[in-house]
Amino acid sequence: MDHYAVFGHPIAHSQSPFIHQTFADQTGQLLTYRAILAPLDGFAETVQRFRAEGGMGANVTLPFKEQAFALCEELTPRARLAGAVNTLHWQADGKLVGDNTDGAGLVADLQQHGVSLTGLRILMLGAGGAVRGVLEPVLACQPAQLVIANRTASKATALAADFGHLGNVTGVGLDGIGSGFDLIINGTSASLSGDLPPLPEGCLVKEGITYDMAYGVHATPFQLWGERHGGRLNLAGLGMLVNQAAESFARWRGVRPEIEPVRAALLARLEAKQ
Ligand code: ATR
Repeated sequence: MDHYAVFGHPIAHSQSPFIHQTFADQTGQLLTYRAILAPLDGFAETVQRFRAEGGMGANVTLPFKEQAFALCEELTPRARLAGAVNTLHWQADGKLVGDNTDGAGLVADLQQHGVSLTGLRILMLGAGGAVRGVLEPVLACQPAQLVIANRTASKATALAADFGHLGNVTGVGLDGIGSGFDLIINGTSASLSGDLPPLPEGCLVKEGITYDMAYGVHATPFQLWGERHGGRLNLAGLGMLVNQAAESFARWRGVRPEIEPVRAALLARLEAKQ
């Protein structure tokens, strides 16, 4: 039996064991996957112990994604640009490789809803770790324009400068957003406290698309904003969560699970917990 895990602090809330066990059942893969609470000052030791006990790979969640980045001996290009790792994999030669599947998960979820990012004008709200983590896969789709808007403008301009070689990327403060975006992605942590960054009238085109990287059983404040402003598709991050997990699973097992049944099962599970 092959062993996998997710490391975080806290970790009890993690849906990853459920998602990966469901993937394993669906694809007939024999594996275990458990949640491991790593002490805040003992991430590397916890990972090493897991490896010594036969661990093959792992996911990493808050607050350890940057520490995981530092621990890896090799990084995928998207993980290097993200500055953070959410997927660990030990190669046959024992080398620890880090990947970041968050952005691929976001892009895949949008694609599954019929949205191609190519040629779109995209507004990205926020300039923290969550946004940095998804920028490379988003820009690889070649949107016409990506504007990063953040409460602290300097963080948005710095992030835009880091990714400017990958496309038409600019950074602004919330007062410099402009108008006419086809897709607005909320990557701020404001949703978590029920807040919304102030957005100008006309920033979303008629029948545009909104995507909140946060998720819940009920619509998030940003999804409700999208509905109020005529968005034709107002998505939240549950599909991104399942898709980033599927990317990790495919990397470890060489098999790509089907998303939709797992997304539906996860939603039912979250609803039942309410
Ligand atoms: P994460 O890992 O979730 O990205 P982070 O790196 O702390 O967390 O970044 C949080 C992001 O949400 C930042 O872009 C933050 O804006 P600032 O850089 O100005 O702090 C943004 N954010 C958090 N609360 C917000 C709010 N109430 N309104 C607008 N932006 C908010």
